[in-house]
Amino acid sequence: MSNESLENLSHEARTFAPSKEFAAAANAKADIYEIAQRDRLGFWEEQARALTWDKPWSKVLEWNSPYAKWFIGGKLNASVNCLDRHVAAGIGDRVAFHFEGEPGDTRTITYAQLLSEVKKSANALIELGIKAEDRVAIYMPMIPEAAIAILACARIGAMHSVVFGGFSAEALLSRIQDADATLVITADGGFRKGGAFALKPAVDEALKGKHNVKNVLVVKRTGQETAWNSELDIWWHDIVDRQSAEHVAESFDSEHPLFILYTSGTTAKPKGIFHTTGGYLTQAAFTHKAVFDLKAESDVYWCTADIGWITGHSYVVYGPLINGATQVMYEGTPDTPHKGRIFELVEKYGVTILYTAPTLIRTWMKWGDEFPKAHNLKSLRLLGSVGEPINPEAWMWYRDVIGGNRCPIVDTWWQTETGAIMISPLPGVTATKPGSAMRPLPGISAKVVDDKAQEVGNGHGGFLILDEPWPSMLRGIWGEDERYKSTYWSRFENKYFAGDGAKLDTDGAIWLLGRVDDVMNVSGHRISTTEVESALVSHEAVAEAAVVGAADAMTGQGIVAFVILRGGIPNVGGDELIQQLRNHVSKEIGPIAKPRQIMVVAELPKTRSGKIMRRLLKDVAENRAVGDSTTLADPNVMKLIKEGLSTGKDED
Ligand code: PRX
Repeated sequence: MSNESLENLSHEARTFAPSKEFAAAANAKADIYEIAQRDRLGFWEEQARALTWDKPWSKVLEWNSPYAKWFIGGKLNASVNCLDRHVAAGIGDRVAFHFEGEPGDTRTITYAQLLSEVKKSANALIELGIKAEDRVAIYMPMIPEAAIAILACARIGAMHSVVFGGFSAEALLSRIQDADATLVITADGGFRKGGAFALKPAVDEALKGKHNVKNVLVVKRTGQETAWNSELDIWWHDIVDRQSAEHVAESFDSEHPLFILYTSGTTAKPKGIFHTTGGYLTQAAFTHKAVFDLKAESDVYWCTADIGWITGHSYVVYGPLINGATQVMYEGTPDTPHKGRIFELVEKYGVTILYTAPTLIRTWMKWGDEFPKAHNLKSLRLLGSVGEPINPEAWMWYRDVIGGNRCPIVDTWWQTETGAIMISPLPGVTATKPGSAMRPLPGISAKVVDDKAQEVGNGHGGFLILDEPWPSMLRGIWGEDERYKSTYWSRFENKYFAGDGAKLDTDGAIWLLGRVDDVMNVSGHRISTTEVESALVSHEAVAEAAVVGAADAMTGQGIVAFVILRGGIPNVGGDELIQQLRNHVSKEIGPIAKPRQIMVVAELPKTRSGKIMRRLLKDVAENRAVGDSTTLADPNVMKLIKEGLSTGKDED
């Protein structure tokens, strides 16, 4: 959204106040902000008390900026909080997951069954020699075993490092190496877009590199033929099924490491964001209950995120399970076998809370209203959005067509690093504006500041920062302490810089404006420009590459690359070469990083000191008049680029 349209909107935006009925029954009441304001740490202690602790904490927070410890001295087990305590409380028969495979196969898994599977899996991990603090890479389709594997690791205190199943073998290997994982849990494959895809071959390919992996545990999902290395590979069912369903969980320190999750930064090397236990679980559970207004006895909650992203960690696994929620888990794509699949499942399972991403909402808009209208969506009572700014048109459509004008919408801003939701309306309390994430949650302090760290005030834009530690904050970048400090804590001293631009409207509501660094947001997924550039230059035909995120009506941003070919490589109109380059990026990083468009150019615009002026390339990529280019070393370059464009635009 342009700044101009934002200006108009923020002044004239309609607001949607919660209905009286919703407000009366809501989990969060209006006084919650004031309570948290009065005693911020006391407020978080109150939320932490909702968990089951084996030993209470003696101190709530130790803050040696930028290092935080929460609930110090407390001991707990993450998997006990998600499972055992519900079974002990007599709700073991409650459904934890309604699983729906893409081909239409289903599984109903109760809390008691999930606990039994997690205990057996934990015993299997122990048999394989996995100990507390070991790292386990999980590379899975969206099937119940993905959640079971995560919880089994947490149960024995091992750290999981989930790698999204759409990432390439190269990306998987670099994450296995960085975390020094000793076990990989994967599947033969999964179902997507109407067919079986294979996952295990990517693991085999990755493990040709240097690593310390001792075993690969393979869940049989598709039954497809799978190459086997009997030195490493073990079928999941061969080892898990014969384990005892008894396992007494150990208590771990509140600051015990829980997981690593890699996310793109501004360099080619992804950052291993790492989270610990007590604070993370506290904020994941609290936000899940307050923001989604979860009533565990009656709601059917569905977060469509894959388990490979932070949203899948906090709002499919930890938050909902701690709160005893009944969820839908779906393996496949939203248009298989038809474009109404998600709506069909909402109707089938009586989903009451739906949490999804703007890119999918815009895709539904494009497909047409007939698909949601063909299903009864009356069970829905609350809608959520995450991953990128939601444009007001998509927000209104979501409200009208999916929510039947009765469901509050929570636009939730947060990051892999924040671990849990930070900025969002509270349904039942906050009057919402289409396109705004509104205000920081109780207990959270976020500000919009100028480049001198001064608050900008209402009606102005700037950088989004967090100026107080929060329980689910990252505890660092795995093995890269300097990078942790320089990436997040150096731009504004002692304040966490989120990397996002934001604006306060005249009422003080927060409007997120997207990234201000070299990170792109494609369909809600973070991809760094440098990562794609280094993938491109690793191809033999490419001498130099510059990548920008260009506005894209459907995916938020699309990846546009400008490449200079090596001497002697003919640019023959280049369609075939461009396809090769696109496929090369897909192989290096994964299909989500495939450039939408690659342009072969003779030169790149650079300053005299050699820095590529991406801003000018973005103008070209977005078909705008090129902005101020007076600092270019060679003023003719932009003209040459515009004249000589050879574009390889592709629609897939
Ligand atoms: O730019 C913001 C955008 O997504 C980034 C975080 O990406 P990731 O760590 O992959 O986590 C995504 C899911 C939490 C942020 O820096 N972002 C996320 N949610 C929103 C958003 N931008 C605007 N509005 C949101 N609701």
